Amino acid sequence: MAGARGAFGSRFGFILAAAGSAVGLGNIWGFPTKVGQGGGALFVLIYLICVVMICAPIMIAELAVGRRSGKDPVGAFTAIKPGSSWWLAGALGVMAGVGILSFYSVIAGWTIGYIYFAASGALTGDSAATSAFFGEFVGNAPLSIGLTFVVLAITAGTLMGGVKQGIERMTKTLMPMLLVLMVLLVVRAVTLPGAGAGLSYYLNPDFSKLSFRMFNTALGQAFFSLSLGMGAMITYGSYLAKSENMTRAAMWVVLVDTLVALMAGFIIFPAGFTLAGFDPTSTGPGLIFVVLPQLFATIPGGQLVGVAFFVMLTMAAITSTISLLEVPTAHLIDSHGWNRRKAVLVLAGLTFLLAVPSALSQGASPFWSNLPGVGMDFLSLMAIVWNDFALPIGGFLLAIFVGHVWRVDQALDELNQGGTMPAAGVWSFLIQWVCPAAIGLIIFFTFKDLLS
Ligand code: PHE
Repeated sequence: MAGARGAFGSRFGFILAAAGSAVGLGNIWGFPTKVGQGGGALFVLIYLICVVMICAPIMIAELAVGRRSGKDPVGAFTAIKPGSSWWLAGALGVMAGVGILSFYSVIAGWTIGYIYFAASGALTGDSAATSAFFGEFVGNAPLSIGLTFVVLAITAGTLMGGVKQGIERMTKTLMPMLLVLMVLLVVRAVTLPGAGAGLSYYLNPDFSKLSFRMFNTALGQAFFSLSLGMGAMITYGSYLAKSENMTRAAMWVVLVDTLVALMAGFIIFPAGFTLAGFDPTSTGPGLIFVVLPQLFATIPGGQLVGVAFFVMLTMAAITSTISLLEVPTAHLIDSHGWNRRKAVLVLAGLTFLLAVPSALSQGASPFWSNLPGVGMDFLSLMAIVWNDFALPIGGFLLAIFVGHVWRVDQALDELNQGGTMPAAGVWSFLIQWVCPAAIGLIIFFTFKDLLS
């Protein structure tokens, strides 16, 4: 069953692919940006609590649903609970795949642009110069749209070759190189003279900043970074052999993803405070594109380091865009009988149309850059709708489904194939009670806050 749809070559191959999906712009671009906007170390702390208590159990649950059903997210809910309306939870995920990819591909396009700028030496100068450069770049409509198109074309091209060949190959070389480069950058950043201020912002929580909105942002960021809440892990689980120990695989993915995000913070904050005059109240999507070039400039051979970094960041983003597009693709193939080629092309085209307003929203078009009545740009709106609401709601529904509809004993039956699951009791408790209650409360109070 799963084999015919393209299975993973080995356990290592699966962990690589799932880690490839998880590690991406969410970790290196999103996490520092959110920490920078959301109160530093306190945000980091809440983020880590969300990862451990809510997201890790949901990752395991998604994999179990995927492997048991062998289906795309919509088909998976139906396969386990035929005749119910639960497929709607899968449908939300399919839509989130397109929605997230639409703004994600714009930012991935920026990273491609920065490969060129790093190589050409355009990224020199002080804070004011690098941020002016960034502003001009993202405000250039044809360039932004063109680069977004390139990202989607690469993604579609890779996906047409099937899941296994495309992703395993790319991640195998990328992940170790990215980790090594990031360790070097951490060392450079924390040894800058005056790095202490940035480290203190990153590590000393200021509890007076606590708010429900911060919980919501941290939760959304954790779902986004771990590729959860939209069925990406259901889909990847559906390609997984019965002999795999899914709990172990999930733990590895969570660990690697969290380490990469934390490392990104150890790079951005010391460097941001010392080199870029970092202002926590006014950071935006340009944060890493403004801070990192200044960090590279302090390193001998910095131009090369910059090129290598943006190449790897682009590759990390592409292994994530692949998984984003694979969810709706698997849906059209499994539930509607489309062939892979047609599914990929139609979905990539649709995503591109939705991406254009995001590409125009960073200065190119006054309308999309400041939506009337909304008070923000289209890209930020997309990020909030999908990351902060759609993904946690998807996770909430999945936790209820696995904990109370499919039921934990059935799920454990699946999870125990390929090795007895460790701490099964803890997982059962978290997925049945903690995940739904915590997500439900956070979403409820965030809505209440927003409406009042
Ligand atoms: N986790 C990816 C990242 O951090 C983004 C992503 C979200 C991928 C949801 C798939 C599903 O960049």
